[in-house]
Amino acid sequence: MKIVTDHNELHAARHLLPRTVGFVPTMGFLHAGHISLVKAARGECKSVVASIFVNPTQFGPNEDLAKYPRDLPRDLALLETSGVDLVWTPSAEVMYPSGYQTWVDVESLTRRLEGDIRPGHFRGVTTVVTQMFIAVAPDKAYFGQKDAQQTAVVRRMTKDLDFPIEIVVCPTVREKDGLAMSSRNVYLNPKEREAATVLFRALSVAKVAFDSGEHKAKKLCSLVSAMIANEPLAHLQYVSCADYDTLDELVTVRGKALLSIAVFMGKTRLIDNIVFG
Ligand code: PAJ
Repeated sequence: MKIVTDHNELHAARHLLPRTVGFVPTMGFLHAGHISLVKAARGECKSVVASIFVNPTQFGPNEDLAKYPRDLPRDLALLETSGVDLVWTPSAEVMYPSGYQTWVDVESLTRRLEGDIRPGHFRGVTTVVTQMFIAVAPDKAYFGQKDAQQTAVVRRMTKDLDFPIEIVVCPTVREKDGLAMSSRNVYLNPKEREAATVLFRALSVAKVAFDSGEHKAKKLCSLVSAMIANEPLAHLQYVSCADYDTLDELVTVRGKALLSIAVFMGKTRLIDNIVFG
């Protein structure tokens, strides 16, 4: 496995990789969710490129950039055993050299849900993903359903900018008790960690209701909020039942839809979702 940091090294190494090339962008502190993307890429592509970059521009001023968990040696070992060919670990200076002033902004899709609460977040994501798509020039790029709005935004951007890249969305990998794996789960204390199972329990209750014929968005959302309200350590920030692609809020679920939630467990903010249809 080759490890590169700057653009010159990346281009030289990328040039030698046989196509098709699969790309897995990450912010590191890898867990089984990230590795599932690598495995999907490994299964479908001749070569696999992964990146590790804690992208400063997608963090708000009061967010956890400084304390975001990092463990590069462990990440590299995990990527190597998962069969990655090339790892790109750029510095902030490589991605945003002095004088940098070019941004990619997907409009209405990023102004709701996560984007409403974290203004500027998706502008950081789409800018860095665009830079990486251009530099890595993959045939396929792998993203997790865990960050459902991110996948919708990246799919829209890929279409709008006509990147010749297939976006592959992989299922959310969960702990045995249902909690979606996330690098931020390490912030939870033992009590919060236990209580955090309420996210998936609440989504599962809505899924059972949906499967038994309840297709009213309001009703599905209220089942989720009632369940979260029952957990004293959890504070619901939003629950949304929206179209899978446009993220427009729905009255009735007809086609493919996304039920998504953001919940505070103490100071830690967790997101999760399930897909209907
Ligand atoms: P990060 O949070 O490290 O996640 C990297 C990828 O792993 C994303 O596509 C995310 O959706 C996926 N992922 C995270 N948890 C998962 C889980 N439990 N199951 C399946 N997939 C999971 O998302 C980012 O980094 C950044 O925004 C990035 C796209 C790298 C741009 O900076």
